[in-house]
Amino acid sequence: MSVIDLRSDTVTQPTSGMREAMLAAELGDDVYGEDPTVNRLETHLAQQLGFAAGLFVPSGTMSNLLGLMAHCERGDEYIVGQQAHTYKYEGGGAAVLGSIQPQPLELEADGSLDLAKVEAAIKPDDFHFARTRLLALENTMQGKVLPMAYLQAVHHFTRQHGLALHLDGARLYNAAVKLGVAAREITQHFDSVSVCLSKGLGAPVGSVLCGSAVLIAKARRLRKMVGGGMRQAGVLAAAGLYALEHQVARLAADHANAERLASGLRELGYPLEPVQTNMVYVQIGERADALQAFCAERGIKLSAAPRLRLVTHLDVAASDIERVLEAFAAFRSR
Ligand SMILES: Cc1ncc(COP(=O)(O)O)c(C=O)c1O
Repeated sequence: MSVIDLRSDTVTQPTSGMREAMLAAELGDDVYGEDPTVNRLETHLAQQLGFAAGLFVPSGTMSNLLGLMAHCERGDEYIVGQQAHTYKYEGGGAAVLGSIQPQPLELEADGSLDLAKVEAAIKPDDFHFARTRLLALENTMQGKVLPMAYLQAVHHFTRQHGLALHLDGARLYNAAVKLGVAAREITQHFDSVSVCLSKGLGAPVGSVLCGSAVLIAKARRLRKMVGGGMRQAGVLAAAGLYALEHQVARLAADHANAERLASGLRELGYPLEPVQTNMVYVQIGERADALQAFCAERGIKLSAAPRLRLVTHLDVAASDIERVLEAFAAFRSR
């Protein structure tokens, strides 16, 4: 029985084409700037997203951290969603390592931050306060795609208020594929973007931070400081390049599988949140542990959470969704 893992889109195995690309990668010492494959990935992604420069790093956490630290000095503040990854799920790195104060705000139902609330949170120029310097958004935000008109409004808002704008685009390409736009249409509104290659795109490791030449030079220095300077990293960058070339359009299949999963669960009577991309949120309540154990016996890996996140990805086939629905139906009728 093959295992179906719906806990995250980070659990994928490199495809055979990706492994071949990794094997064939030309390598050098990237700390010396001499890895041609890393250089190609950084240039390619920066150009594709409309930025002057890119920086390959081991993880999305590091990419966001370097982005925040490159924008903010010690004693600066960034405004961010309560549930945003940079704030809630990255060990408080911006505060711990960057001395950057977070100002979290409650997110709206669509994953955006209400700009009136952001405006009210910006601190006056007064030595009592931290200096509000940056606004950070996430897209997709728990699977939700931020509307294009909102991005334009946010861009305008940050220019008016002298704030920089960072995007945690761990799943940028899910948003772009869902909207049917080039990723650049989204990123044009931001001063920096962190893109994960190891989520829906299916690479084993790596993220890229994109921004201006000055910002990326600062981030490169910080990357060395936090131990993110890798050597023959082209073996990993090759996987990222392969993913960008071959595994973007297929995200639509993950979205279709999530939609099918959601409609099946709805028919079974499970309360669900609206689904836009590759994440399905279903209310399981206090039976979360029991459901996890029940599904594990049937080769289906789930997290155990009352608000359960089910994530589709390249190692989940359409036929797997039917197997999952059968398990949920059996669990419900026990
Ligand atoms: C939205 C978002 N941003 C950033 C990250 C961090 O990525 P990494 O696990 O590579 O540090 C994640 C990881 O799941 C994420 O979901």
